[in-house]
Amino acid sequence: MIEPHDALRLLNGGPVALLTTRFRNETNVMPVIWTVSLSRRPPLIGVAMNQSRHTHDMVRFAEEFALNFPGRDLLNHTHYFGAVSGADVGKLELAKLPTFKASKISAPLIEHCLAYVECSLQEALRLGDHTLFVGRVLVVQAEEEAFDETWRLEEREYRPLHYLGVDRYAVLGERLQAELRTTEEGAIELAEAVEERERREEEEAREAERRKREGEEA
Ligand SMILES: Cc1cc2nc3c(=O)[nH]c(=O)nc-3n(C[C@H](O)[C@H](O)[C@H](O)COP(=O)(O)O)c2cc1C
Repeated sequence: MIEPHDALRLLNGGPVALLTTRFRNETNVMPVIWTVSLSRRPPLIGVAMNQSRHTHDMVRFAEEFALNFPGRDLLNHTHYFGAVSGADVGKLELAKLPTFKASKISAPLIEHCLAYVECSLQEALRLGDHTLFVGRVLVVQAEEEAFDETWRLEEREYRPLHYLGVDRYAVLGERLQAELRTTEEGAIELAEAVEERERREEEEAREAERRKREGEEA
């Protein structure tokens, strides 16, 4: 039996971000998975944060935060940052991860992440036991190997980390290219797409066979 609140786990899977913040001389970091795009113009993103998090009031008062997107190298750090609270320990200093200065805000950015988003706080909406922090995106940076217009997913170490729940994480395996083919009436042209795919697969198999034979002859 799956409990109603476990429905949230079915929605999990977007990349994990490490949210960094700085308020008065204190810095902190926590992983977040409840993130959402809210507006393109102006660029707004949302983070739903439980009111019990130490980071919660830091973001409320600092009125800014950064999202750092880790890859698989930072898997254990990510889990650690989500298991202990900045109310008890200075996680960022104890983790000994190098940080660097953000361009527009005072929260530090974590080195070796794949992409970074700097935000100022536009709104804070209380929803149940969480607050939806609405961030106005000020600056975005990403490693070329990780992101072109979308996540590239080519090299293993440049794939973002996803969170499934509990202590389980994942990385996406492959970027797929969709093709949009419609009939004049606007229906999806499924039959042709399937036939074409089969033809392409046959051609690819023949080509692979030819290359194998050429290799053997040489
Ligand atoms: C991968 C992962 C994602 C998480 N996502 C969220 C989230 O979106 N919102 C939230 O309130 N807590 C989330 N948490 C829990 C907090 O990160 C965790 O309670 C953290 O220790 C809070 O740190 P703080 O007290 O220093 O702010 C997540 C935990 C993990 C491990």
